[in-house]
Amino acid sequence: MHHHLNTIAVTLAAIGLAGAQNSSWNHNLFTSSPPVYPSPETAGTGWEAALAQAEAFLANLTLEEKAGMVTGCSGPCVGNIAPIERLGFDGLCLQDGPLAIRQATYASVFPAGLTTAASWDKGLMYTRGLYMGQEFKGKGANVALGPVVGPLGRNARGGRNWEGFSPDPFLTGIAVEQTIWGMQSTGLQACVKHYIGNEQETQRNPSITKNGTTIEAVSSNIDDRTMHELYSWPFANAVRSGVASVMCSYNRVNGSYSCENSKTLNGILKEEFGFQGYVMSDWGGTHSGVPSINAGLDMDMPGTIGFFVSDNSYFGSNITTAVNNGSLSEARLDDMIKRIMTPYFHLKQNTDYPSIDPSGAIGGFFSVEPTTVQFPLGTVANVDVRANHATLIRELGSAGTVLLKNVNNALPLKAPKNIAVLGNDAGDLINGEYFDSSPYSQNAFGFEYGTLPVGGGSGTGRMSYLVDPLTAIKARAAQDGSLVQWILNNTLLSTPSGLSSLAPSPPDVCLVFLKTWAQEGLDRSTLLADWNSTAVVESVTSVCNNTIVVTHSGGLNVMPWANNPNVTAILAAHLPGTESGNSLVDILYGDVNPSGRLPYTIAKTQEDYSFADITNSTALATTTNPNAWQSDFEEGLLIDYRHFDYYNQSVQYEFGFGLSYSTFDISSLSVSNVYGGSNITSTPPPAKIIPGGNPTLWDVLYRATVTVSNTGDIAGATVPQLYLSLPQIPSEDPTPLHVLRGFEKVSLQPGQSTVVNFDLTRRDLSYWSVFQQEWIIAAGEIGVSVGLSSRDFKATSSFRVL
Ligand SMILES: *[C@@H]1O[C@H](CO)[C@@H](O)[C@H](O)[C@H]1NC(C)=O
Ligand SMILES: *[C@@H]1O[C@H](CO)[C@@H](O)[C@H](O)[C@H]1NC(C)=O
Ligand SMILES: *[C@@H]1O[C@H](CO)[C@@H](O)[C@H](O)[C@H]1NC(C)=O
Ligand SMILES: *[C@@H]1O[C@H](CO)[C@@H](O)[C@H](O)[C@H]1NC(C)=O
Ligand SMILES: *[C@@H]1O[C@H](CO)[C@@H](O)[C@H](O)[C@H]1NC(C)=O
Ligand SMILES: *[C@@H]1O[C@H](CO)[C@@H](O)[C@H](O)[C@H]1NC(C)=O
Ligand SMILES: *[C@@H]1O[C@H](CO)[C@@H](O)[C@H](O)[C@H]1NC(C)=O
Ligand SMILES: *[C@@H]1O[C@H](CO)[C@@H](O)[C@H](O)[C@H]1NC(C)=O
Ligand SMILES: *[C@@H]1O[C@H](CO)[C@@H](O)[C@H](O)[C@H]1NC(C)=O
Ligand SMILES: *[C@@H]1O[C@H](CO)[C@@H](O)[C@H](O)[C@H]1NC(C)=O
Ligand SMILES: *[C@@H]1O[C@H](CO)[C@@H](O)[C@H](O)[C@H]1NC(C)=O
Ligand SMILES: *[C@@H]1O[C@H](CO)[C@@H](O)[C@H](O)[C@H]1NC(C)=O
Repeated sequence: MHHHLNTIAVTLAAIGLAGAQNSSWNHNLFTSSPPVYPSPETAGTGWEAALAQAEAFLANLTLEEKAGMVTGCSGPCVGNIAPIERLGFDGLCLQDGPLAIRQATYASVFPAGLTTAASWDKGLMYTRGLYMGQEFKGKGANVALGPVVGPLGRNARGGRNWEGFSPDPFLTGIAVEQTIWGMQSTGLQACVKHYIGNEQETQRNPSITKNGTTIEAVSSNIDDRTMHELYSWPFANAVRSGVASVMCSYNRVNGSYSCENSKTLNGILKEEFGFQGYVMSDWGGTHSGVPSINAGLDMDMPGTIGFFVSDNSYFGSNITTAVNNGSLSEARLDDMIKRIMTPYFHLKQNTDYPSIDPSGAIGGFFSVEPTTVQFPLGTVANVDVRANHATLIRELGSAGTVLLKNVNNALPLKAPKNIAVLGNDAGDLINGEYFDSSPYSQNAFGFEYGTLPVGGGSGTGRMSYLVDPLTAIKARAAQDGSLVQWILNNTLLSTPSGLSSLAPSPPDVCLVFLKTWAQEGLDRSTLLADWNSTAVVESVTSVCNNTIVVTHSGGLNVMPWANNPNVTAILAAHLPGTESGNSLVDILYGDVNPSGRLPYTIAKTQEDYSFADITNSTALATTTNPNAWQSDFEEGLLIDYRHFDYYNQSVQYEFGFGLSYSTFDISSLSVSNVYGGSNITSTPPPAKIIPGGNPTLWDVLYRATVTVSNTGDIAGATVPQLYLSLPQIPSEDPTPLHVLRGFEKVSLQPGQSTVVNFDLTRRDLSYWSVFQQEWIIAAGEIGVSVGLSSRDFKATSSFRVL
């Protein structure tokens, strides 16, 4: 039975006690999750023909084979489901990661999710997904372990924020659906991850003390409204876009491991969002057998207990035993297999799917183990899947670069004759092209010499080449006969005589390259760029009054030098992938007009982010209390710009901000009801749940229209952004003052104007009511602001639905 009454009783209590953000967070309400059982069975909604094929397949399986279908095994890929030759099933090959097929040779390394979000370009988001889909498929992978929407980015220091898109759930929601549509259009299965509340790397997994006590993983304690309006929002987009699989995360939520949390898996994901595919565990994230299965987990990866290779599993033959002894229903096991095989048949992976590339570099996780199961491999190794994808990588690298400052027409460069290229991020790599191997792993600041095109850990990619900034600048400067002088040693640069080798000096322009390492498993220790960045900028600006700072960063940076008058331009280039230098030179020399926008806020100081910091301390690091790691998400909905706006705090560069070499304006905002009636109800009309939830949540109720003009004298693109101001709800947590609910990237010639429409869905206009357990349109005025950033509104209006 379903324990809805139980859920409501708990959340009613939460309103009074956990509601007010400042005073009365009651931790005791967050020590358990409401039970939601049984696990909803898939109906194959939207995938009906494939469900019938999955059922026929299932009918032929023995109990042992069924157990094998839901349990990872050794094999050529990062995750493997064994083939069943008798049934013509070649098994499943699961490969990392969100920006590349991680270990593969002759494959592309695309710009990171963060860079992709900074482009605010739906078309590029889709094309990146499409090309990744082609590459994974070309290498014989059935499932890509990406895209990432968790972490969302609650903590500015989160080590994996760059793998995902943006702390804004709407921007992330659009980015993830475009990515999934692109990937799955090729026949590849996407796996959206990490579900849910995986907002820090610190203590993401349990640890063991010296005396053998298990200290449990951090618990993300999240109230129900915040869960819906922030953290699970983009997962709903992912489900709606037809994602085949969801990876549950390492952390706990309200005290219960994400891979055995029936409220988040059975309740929110499968029941409310109508997810029809399968949930797989993060690697080693399974902590039980039957309880996890009944809570909604469908596949154990990699099929071992803990992260490392061993031949036991909470699943595997324990499933056979559990069915035989009656503790697990075979119907639930059958549902798990239907959930796994329906997307497989829907995406036609049973017909003409490429075989796994036999290159030794293709998998890796288990490649040192003796493989007991024979996977059919292709006959050709090192298949080159890159095609012409470098063109997109170069374009998206530029599109995701944000021009934050540009005074005295510093940019674009006008054939400067004497260029200095400074900083350890400017040059080529010196330690190899793969950041998931020694000496790149597990150093808080990564490697010293070489530019940073991507981050580290399972979300990285093996580069087949790299265009570093220095090389690209030299090539471009040669066209003008310019002098290029470089110093890459930050220790030297941060000393007073550090620039003394330059001649003539000062150069016409000093390009300073800073970087910020970030990787899986480790949160950042600082929001400053690494390697003495502040000292380097100060040293350069003391000599050079035309200093242009470029950052390559796995997340946001604070920029204490931003207002230094000798810093004439700043470019946040994020993690651009392998065409890094070309993407940048295109912008420096004006071949591409910058159009990236910040997908996060750059505040003035690191302390400004302390409202939602990493849960960590020396006491926690040495605790003997198994349950000590508790991360209370007390700030509720108010993360990133929602926090800074609510508390009216000034920032360095706001969410959505970015300059162009041209100027743009927005006018003529109008808002109309397109529903065709004046009787819109506050609750969504009941309807059969389909993937994405109640389909009426996606009905377009209103449409806003603006005119966008290029008022400058060169062609370029801009990003009109629509923000809503939804009503405050009495005795509820604060509603953010503005929330992003629409954006478009628009390319315009000088003097040209165009009309841009923003469709507002029922979900866009609603808040999640914990009382009613429903999306509700509140009575009251809804403000509409359209502008060029979250703090640069050009036109405002308002309307009332109720
Ligand atoms: C929280 O406290 C701040 C400063 O004391 C105040 O400005 C703000 O309105 C309070 N917010 C809520 C939700 O009570
Ligand atoms: C977490 O606890 C809060 C407060 O009791 C509750 O509103 C919310 O639904 C819980 N969420 C989960 C996933 O347990
Ligand atoms: C399973 O067996 C049935 C006959 O019992 C057959 O029609 C069907 O094609 C088989 N399915 C698969 C996937 O082998
Ligand atoms: C079954 O699960 C237990 C943990 O509950 C584990 O110790 C054991 O090794 C598993 N059995 C197999 C055969 O994997
Ligand atoms: C049934 O099997 C499961 C899996 O091995 C085991 O955890 C459980 O204790 C068994 N239950 C009974 C009643 O034997
Ligand atoms: C970098 O500069 C420092 C300070 O001058 C020097 O000690 C160090 O040897 C230099 N590093 C390299 C790799 O030359
Ligand atoms: C530069 O950074 C390194 C390591 O972060 C540090 O040891 C060194 O003292 C710094 N040098 C300067 C001049 O700040
Ligand atoms: C800016 O550069 C000039 C040299 O052109 C220098 O004299 C001045 O001190 C610099 N200012 C700062 C703040 O570094
Ligand atoms: C910048 O430095 C150059 C070269 O030293 C000098 O000619 C110019 O006047 C300076 N500009 C400003 C605004 O200080
Ligand atoms: C967490 O705290 C420990 C102990 O104080 C410290 O060593 C570690 O660097 C901290 N981690 C982060 C990401 O701040
Ligand atoms: C280990 O230490 C914890 C905390 O001091 C204590 O509760 C527990 O009993 C100890 N376990 C063993 C096996 O000594
Ligand atoms: C009210 O809504 C219903 C159902 O959408 C529609 O048929 C009817 O025409 C609407 N009435 C008005 C006055 O808009």
